[in-house]
Amino acid sequence: MLRDANSRGGSRAMHDDIREGDVLEIGVPKNHFPLAHSVQSSSLLFAGGIGVTPILCMAERLSNIGAEFQMHYCSRSPSRTAFVDRIRRSAYSDHVAFHFDDGPEEQRLDLPALLASPNPERHIYVCGPGGFMDFIIESATKNGWPDELIHREYFAAAPKKAANDAPFDVRIASTGKVIHVPAEETVVAALAAAGVRIPTSCEQGVCGTCVTRIIEGEPEHRDTFLTKQERARNDQFTPCCSRAKSATLVLDI
Ligand code: FES
Repeated sequence: MLRDANSRGGSRAMHDDIREGDVLEIGVPKNHFPLAHSVQSSSLLFAGGIGVTPILCMAERLSNIGAEFQMHYCSRSPSRTAFVDRIRRSAYSDHVAFHFDDGPEEQRLDLPALLASPNPERHIYVCGPGGFMDFIIESATKNGWPDELIHREYFAAAPKKAANDAPFDVRIASTGKVIHVPAEETVVAALAAAGVRIPTSCEQGVCGTCVTRIIEGEPEHRDTFLTKQERARNDQFTPCCSRAKSATLVLDI
């Protein structure tokens, strides 16, 4: 397990505070990156480095239900690749191609060939570092794959704070209470200071935990969680990072 030098707390705490044999209490898993499969549809799975974690579960599930899929697993070198033995010993190993940065040319990921023919029955799933994800998603989009067929899970998002962030108001629909959100504060923080708590997890617009319905007003989306279609509807947003274009947002809480 790598210790992340830029940890926001989790990686550091795992290394510093947890010892072998410790008993950890955990919550119920939340899945913000579900398969949208049916046995009839097929899937193209792309994993970059440790982004294999959710992709591996998808491969196992798709294999168990007999669905058609291909998994492409990109990493620096075999020695830095998690779950190699588990995948090679699995019943679905012939559905998986490894692509190592330090490997021969012929095993490199041939994205143009893989994405050449968009198919409404084929879903793309991608998880990995930001550059890897952007490369796959942009290539798929350029090749005509619609956004709703491209499923993604980011580890983290780059901060999207703008120099000219403007203040605005949030009205809580259930109580009518109006809370001012200053330019330098998130909606979640401003509401928390006023005693209104919205559950959060990543606080970066990645996980979807904080998604809140909007009754009135126009949000300025800054997340990577909602799809293009969901953003265009403007009826929900991620208050951990997104803001408002209108002077007031009325939230369904
Ligand atoms: Fe993760 Fe807002 S807390 S998207």
